[in-house]
Amino acid sequence: MFYLLVVIGAILLCVYCVLQRCTRNWKMLREYPGDYPLPIIGNGLQLGFDSEKSSDKIFNLWKKYGMQNFRMTVGNEEWVLVTNPDDVATILNHPTELCKQVERNTGMKPLFGNSLSTSNGERWRLIRKLVTPSFHFKTLEKKIDTVNKHCDRLFELLDEQNRIDAYKYIKPFLLDTVCSSLMGVEMNFLDSIDHPYFEAGDTAMKLITETYFSYWRSIPWFVTLTKLYKETQRIAKVLDNMSNDGHHTTAIALSHALYCIAKYPEVQHRVLEEQKLIFNENKFKKPNHKELNEMKYLEAVIKESIRVLPTITKISRHLKNDLQLKDGRVVPANTTLVIFFKGMYQDPKIFSEPEKYNPDRFFSPMHNYALVPFSSGPRNCVGFRFAWVALKATISNIIRRYELGLAGPGTEPQFVYRLMTESRNGIQLNIKRRVY
Ligand code: HEM
Repeated sequence: MFYLLVVIGAILLCVYCVLQRCTRNWKMLREYPGDYPLPIIGNGLQLGFDSEKSSDKIFNLWKKYGMQNFRMTVGNEEWVLVTNPDDVATILNHPTELCKQVERNTGMKPLFGNSLSTSNGERWRLIRKLVTPSFHFKTLEKKIDTVNKHCDRLFELLDEQNRIDAYKYIKPFLLDTVCSSLMGVEMNFLDSIDHPYFEAGDTAMKLITETYFSYWRSIPWFVTLTKLYKETQRIAKVLDNMSNDGHHTTAIALSHALYCIAKYPEVQHRVLEEQKLIFNENKFKKPNHKELNEMKYLEAVIKESIRVLPTITKISRHLKNDLQLKDGRVVPANTTLVIFFKGMYQDPKIFSEPEKYNPDRFFSPMHNYALVPFSSGPRNCVGFRFAWVALKATISNIIRRYELGLAGPGTEPQFVYRLMTESRNGIQLNIKRRVY
């Protein structure tokens, strides 16, 4: 009996494989390099069993397939991973293909609710229309004042330290700044930097990444039986639907830029020289919009920091219709297009000597879609202007006040590629008040 069941199972799998190869979608997808997917789990085994290492595995596959767009099947979902900037432009500027992928939203929604970032269709359009005016560039000068004001409180704390974990101070600083700028409420998280909200925010990113790479996530009854589900419910209560998107991403980008500045003293020297040129004798003046616009080298440093440590590691669109990419190949409807930043930003065709930290590369002409940390098109990051001024103003204030250095052996960040790039052991820095 047992052997009969095994034989029937094997025959059914063979029939499934043959039928699968005949589908219209498969005929289109096989135009892309990729290994043949197994029934039920697809290419899931290639992602391994540790979701924190899955992005590294995808990166290795991208190299194996010749550093170009390639395909994977994860469970029953078809992905085309895209790293070609022309195709990135086509996808992000598409006027109607704006749907976020289910892999991401399944993890995000229980934690952050039906936010702008997780909504689709009419609901998304309506929320987007409602929130856009709060981010208008005319409101920026006021937002810069708010960032500057919160820097004062940050400095009261930093003045007492000579070694810090940047995440521990920058996350509450940015949460306070975002709440004050956008909602007009003073949360004073800087007065309680060990608040459980921050640990919950970190765990949330781990859980979302785990859900993203779990091929059984699309079987809801099964999900409710798992440890992942229970942990998600627990963290959701701590976060209480408070949007983590904006302050967390900006805090990560800011902390990583400070890390790069600390790691490369010659870069730190040039950032400081630019600040001196802009502020002359007025060493501790808080920057305004005009002065921030003059900080071109600092801007290049932030871009290069995001390139080497992509804040958001991938964004995606779930296709409603077939979509033709630049070389003529067509990605079929129902496929998820994953823009894989880690691959794009390490592609020597786009960035020469990609392993080198070199902010000057941004002073040479490059493809408009070579670096798109805030995405682009109708569904781009609604907070990108605010993020830019927050990043520049805070670093400008910090770098004129403190000399930054790495904390030394044994403290090097252990970066992992979750939905965001994060360091498992924080960002340990030495800070010293500058003497002028
Ligand atoms: C360095 C900081 C930041 C980075 C790197 C970043 C990056 C991104 C990216 C890549 C997306 C996805 C866009 C897409 O799918 O095409 C996004 C969406 C979004 N971001 Fe940001 N972001 C940052 C800061 C902020 C801030 C400060 C806010 C608000 C306070 C914000 C609010 C949002 C929202 C609401 C969305 C969803 C937009 C939509 O779906 O229509 N972000 N962001």
